[in-house]
Amino acid sequence: MRVPVIAGNWKMHKSVAESASFARELLPSIAAYESVERIVAPTFLALTAVAEALRGSGVGLSAQDAHFEPQGAFTSQISAAMLKGIASHTIIGHSECRAWLGETDERVNLKVRAALSCDLTPIVAVGENLQQYEAGQTFAVVGRQVRAALQDVGTADMSRVILAYEPVWAIGTGRNASAETARDAIGDCVRATLAELYGASIARQVRILYGGSVKPDNMSQYMAEQEIDGALVGGASLNVSDFAALVAIAAREKTAGNNS
Ligand code: PGA
Repeated sequence: MRVPVIAGNWKMHKSVAESASFARELLPSIAAYESVERIVAPTFLALTAVAEALRGSGVGLSAQDAHFEPQGAFTSQISAAMLKGIASHTIIGHSECRAWLGETDERVNLKVRAALSCDLTPIVAVGENLQQYEAGQTFAVVGRQVRAALQDVGTADMSRVILAYEPVWAIGTGRNASAETARDAIGDCVRATLAELYGASIARQVRILYGGSVKPDNMSQYMAEQEIDGALVGGASLNVSDFAALVAIAAREKTAGNNS
């Protein structure tokens, strides 16, 4: 059985002090849900302070990106090698990075491989934009992104990769994808592509999350779908009770409420 994942992407929110105190406030309400992999992704600046706050809690710490070169003349960037030993995970290929930072499929692939080689679990985000969605191109776009992101990633590493289907039109818009839309993209496109690349057995083991305006009041419908293994959450992860509610729902729906 796949362990469900709830990952909170804090984006460019919270100062270092706010991030650490938020993590300390969050812990008591999510600590018991050990059957769910719980992850928070603060800004780079707050990683060490949040690591300290989370120490011994079992909650994962994710970066929001990771450069593929270990070091060099890349002003503003942080490498996967620098994150090694600080973070456990890193988001790669978020649509905001694709849109604002010129992230390409090729760079996403380099970053995925760099993350894996630095013992970071990549949370690889894929998803179509509104125009592509309306033109019926979701599977073509998402399938291409998955293939490109995983080029030269070996079978042995796939158990460490987490994928997130995040339709761009659903991120931060309050317009969440229906559970059926998310299920179809995840099952019939992302997982089907993994099956083509790695075989059915590996494809069944990889966790694939949904992301895009996930909130406590729409979470249950996603978790009721067998194909959807959790959520990558932006806005609702900035609120302790909302994030805790998402973790509790994942535990209830995916693991029969054990460890709650
Ligand atoms: P949202 O963001 O939950 O605020 O829509 C999701 C994401 O960007 O991962």
